[in-house]
Amino acid sequence: MKNMKSIRVNASKSYTVHIGRGLIDRVTDFIPKKYGKFIIITDDNVGKFYLDRVTAAIPYGCWNIMFTHGEASKTLATIEYFYNYLSEAGIGRNDCIIALGGGVVGDMAGFAAATYLRGIDFVQIPTSLLAQVDSSVGGKTGVDLPRGKNLVGAFHQPVAVIIDIDTLDTLPQSYFKDGLGEVIKYGLIRSNEITELLLSHDTDSIKTVIDEIVYRCIDIKRQIVENDEFERGERKLLNFGHTFGHAIERLENFTGMSHGLAVVAGMKIVSAVTKNNDVVSLLDKISEKYDLTREVNFSFSELLEAAMTDKKRSGETIDVVVCKAPGESFVENISFENLRKMCE
Ligand code: GLY
Repeated sequence: MKNMKSIRVNASKSYTVHIGRGLIDRVTDFIPKKYGKFIIITDDNVGKFYLDRVTAAIPYGCWNIMFTHGEASKTLATIEYFYNYLSEAGIGRNDCIIALGGGVVGDMAGFAAATYLRGIDFVQIPTSLLAQVDSSVGGKTGVDLPRGKNLVGAFHQPVAVIIDIDTLDTLPQSYFKDGLGEVIKYGLIRSNEITELLLSHDTDSIKTVIDEIVYRCIDIKRQIVENDEFERGERKLLNFGHTFGHAIERLENFTGMSHGLAVVAGMKIVSAVTKNNDVVSLLDKISEKYDLTREVNFSFSELLEAAMTDKKRSGETIDVVVCKAPGESFVENISFENLRKMCE
């Protein structure tokens, strides 16, 4: 198909990420032909646009679950609701879950797939920019606990990822901006080309190069996941800005700053604390340009306190991603005591 691209991910399970336009109406072209039934898991925001179209593209045996959009739904209670529905629909190990939606849908449908009947296959059809550039690839699945984001989960790779860039047309601008936060992260940790694309465009014109941006981000994700699927080293780079970003989200009870905006704020905080002033200036420039700058209403000690429940903590230390210069980043294990001193 014209202008279609694919990226093969060779992790513990190999699968292809298909990137193109209009793919939503022909999803079965990209899904292995071995499943009995399909069950689409989506939310009300995405379902209203695409559930009928994806259902129409699947000629037989298609069930669906639609839940209320938003981070507040990302709980074990919702997962229990999924399990009961899957079981009532008679979904078995030869069937397949389809995650149709943004990051929350992908993480939750993926977690249900990882755990229901000790694991069944699933396909990711990401419809938000955040999910298209990052969360749909790599197999991280999970839910939040009141004490923090994604504290329960599993690594479970999808059998295919179908990225239809046209679905971004129905994405509200605030969600699009949210995804740009993750795009900035990819640029800073690994790709000056992505950073250049961000610098040379603006809120309107960036959409003209979005196919290329999605492709570049996923290709970086592929390399990192192939090298370190279970996040023992290199994959931690993808957490740039997330320690303080998650802390902000948690302090605002997941109802304040969106994930992408919190990650932008988190990247600025960690770059300021580690005295990488050029990176802070670049972040300021890009975030002003795309209206991604938000005030953080918490002191550093409040943020640090919240970060202490983060998954990246081990004992009195935490892995922090440091970006020394655009495209150059590394992981540093820093004690909370030293972090406190660095901010004095
Ligand atoms: N979203 C970060 C990762 O997949 O590792």
